[in-house]
Amino acid sequence: MDYFRQRIGFELKGAADLVTAADRGSEALIARRIHENWPEHDLLAEEGTRRETGSAYRWHVDPLDGTTNFAHGYPVFCVSLGLAHRDELIAGVLYDPSRDELFAAEKGSGATLNGNRIQVSKAKKLAQALLATGFPSKKRNENPNIYFYHQLTLRSHGCRRAGSAALDLAYVACGRYDAFWEFNLNPWDTAAGVLLVQEAGGRVTRFDGSPWRITDSRETLATNALFHDELLAEFKAIFQGRGLEPLPSPLEYAKKTE
Ligand code: IPD
Ligand code: CA
Ligand code: CA
Repeated sequence: MDYFRQRIGFELKGAADLVTAADRGSEALIARRIHENWPEHDLLAEEGTRRETGSAYRWHVDPLDGTTNFAHGYPVFCVSLGLAHRDELIAGVLYDPSRDELFAAEKGSGATLNGNRIQVSKAKKLAQALLATGFPSKKRNENPNIYFYHQLTLRSHGCRRAGSAALDLAYVACGRYDAFWEFNLNPWDTAAGVLLVQEAGGRVTRFDGSPWRITDSRETLATNALFHDELLAEFKAIFQGRGLEPLPSPLEYAKKTE
């Protein structure tokens, strides 16, 4: 938070892919603490720390999720840690220091926010839902998500794009969002948040409804479970180009308002 208040500078890992001293400092601290406590555990962290010894336990660490927000002084970011045992998520913690909110989940034991039990929302239909999504900071022109953003905005109460995928998942877990989807996420973005959603009563799959797995699932669709099938049907229709709402052309709009 000291770094955040100081508005420390950033470096670029790609054209719009930012990294700061806070990302690196957070990762070094977390990797050291995990190693001190569980020296035999493996670890995969976004800024390059890797420990691969063949352990059954692997930590997935995003030392700062929402770096672009952080660097611009927009207070939506978190730290996310997920622990898998033989590729099954068993524990996740996610901390949002701006709001002092600590989300935690343990396989089979439920999910909590600052120690209080949380549950997904009760929205039964897409038409009643508030959704969240995100857009990648790498290979930005290869991503079709803007079509999904457009169609799903028109079929729901709206879609937010707040800039921290991990926090988006935590917000599905505690019912602030009814669903979240994103293309091309990494395991450090999703490990804690997916377990939070599952332990809070929600459902997580890939976009075709197949099981989500920590090892190879870049596309992530998380809902309160109640309208998951409806949303899967929408994804199928959008991928097939069926029943799409037309997107008004800027050219025609400009002509009409001349
Ligand atoms: C990013 C954020 C963002 C999402 C991107 C992620 P980072 O993580 O979660 O919301 O849209 O796909 O890469 O780079 O801030 O750790
Ligand atoms: Ca990060
Ligand atoms: Ca991230």
